[in-house]
Amino acid sequence: MGRFLFGIIIGVLLLPAGAWAWFKYGHPPVAVADAPLPFERQITHVPLNARIDKEAPGAAAVQANEATFVAGAHIYREQCAFCHGVSGEKSKIGGNMFPGVPQLWESHGHGVVGVSDDPPGETYWKVANGIRLSGMPAYNKILSETEMWQVSVLLANADKPLPPTALILLKQPLNLDAATAAPAPPADLGR
Ligand code: HEC
Repeated sequence: MGRFLFGIIIGVLLLPAGAWAWFKYGHPPVAVADAPLPFERQITHVPLNARIDKEAPGAAAVQANEATFVAGAHIYREQCAFCHGVSGEKSKIGGNMFPGVPQLWESHGHGVVGVSDDPPGETYWKVANGIRLSGMPAYNKILSETEMWQVSVLLANADKPLPPTALILLKQPLNLDAATAAPAPPADLGR
C-alpha cells in the first residue's frame, strides 16, 4: 500500500514536471510557420462557436442598402483590408500569420465569398469582440456599433452584386493605402 501511494505521488509530481520540460525543451509551436498542435483548430473553435451561438445579436441594426455598403467599404479599407485583403488581391500579411487570415473577398465556390454564408450577427460578434490568440482585433472600442454593423452587413453581402460606389473602394490595390496614408519622407532622410 505504501509503495502504491508512493507511486501515485511520484506520478502526480512527474506530470507537471514533464509538461514543464516539454514547454521549455520540447519545441512546442511558437513561430508562425510551426505545425499546429494536434486538434488545435478544432479545440479553439468549439468554445468560440458556442460563445457566438449564445451571444451573437439577431437582426442587423442597419439596412442592407447602398449607404451601408459604401460606409462599410470605407471602414473595411481603413481597418480590415490590410489583413483580410481586397477584391482581387490577397493580403501578404494575412498569409504570414498563424492562424492565417481568411481573405474576405475570396470565393470559396458554392457561391460563397468570404463570410457571406455567415449571418451578419455572427460577423458582428467577431468584429466587436475579436478572436483571442489569433491576431483578430476587438473593434468595440475602436468603431461605433453602427460602424461594426455596416462592415458586417457589407461582408454578409460579399457574394451579391454591390453598387459601383462601394466596389471602387474594395477593388483598389492594397498598396494604395500605404501610398496615400503617410506623407512622403523628406528628401534628405538618412543623410
Ligand atoms: C491584424 C490582422 C487583422 C485585422 C486588422 C482584422 N482581422 Fe479579422 N481576422 C484576423 C485573423 C487572424 C482571423 C482568423 C481567426 C481564426 O482563425 O480564428 C480573423 C477572422 C475574422 C473573421 C472570421 C472569418 C471566418 O472565416 O470565420 C471575420 C468576419 C473578420 N476577421 C472580420 C474583420 C473585420 C470586419 C475587420 C476590420 C474591422 C478585421 N477582421 C480586421 C485578423 C485580422
